Amino acid sequence: MTEKGETLDRIEALRGDITLVRADAIVNAANSALAGGGGVDGAIHRAAGPALAEACRKLRETRGGCPTGDAVATTAGALAALGAKAVIHAVGPIWHGGSAGEPEALASCYRRCVELAAEARYESVAFPNISTGVYGYPKESAARVSVAALADALSRAPSVVRVLLVCFDEENFELCRAELARRKTEARRSEG
Ligand code: APR
Repeated sequence: MTEKGETLDRIEALRGDITLVRADAIVNAANSALAGGGGVDGAIHRAAGPALAEACRKLRETRGGCPTGDAVATTAGALAALGAKAVIHAVGPIWHGGSAGEPEALASCYRRCVELAAEARYESVAFPNISTGVYGYPKESAARVSVAALADALSRAPSVVRVLLVCFDEENFELCRAELARRKTEARRSEG
């Protein structure tokens, strides 16, 4: 199915720190134990404070964390001061060369976050570039997979009107911006 320009127009790539962005839901690039870590996970935990660690601890106890390719929502803790209603912890795949289901797992993360946001009636969601740090997913492939998965999920979630792809580094930002532009041009061409 050809993507619609309108769906892609709901996605924006920007350069920055996700803990400073206003959105109903802030997505975290977590690990399956929801045990916290470095990178964006560390930054989100520092900004959200102890309430977030406590919510993650409870989820570990009650459901054993979160499997790769899935996502789970918690309180936003102190990020509520910026308007966030939830942190959605998405567990991206660790890169093992690309033929161990990594693209499917990465796409599934993005899709599950949009589904959770739609269920909770959140209108805006901010994503980091999941798996492109410690987990080693090549950035160019990740940009393609993430934009395609977001466009697909948003086509089924009309209430999610704004998705921000918050890129911490210049390379991810350029790749995501170019991928979005390419898909928008393709969509407009096929729409005539
Ligand atoms: N805002 C937005 N993006 C950020 C920020 C931030 N404050 N800090 C880092 N990033 C970016 C990185 O530049 C990278 O592109 O987030 C992307 C994902 O990198 P990681 O945080 O390393 O996440 P990931 O590759 O998915 O690995 C997850 O790392 O921190 C641990 O607990 C986490 O075990 C899990 C693993």
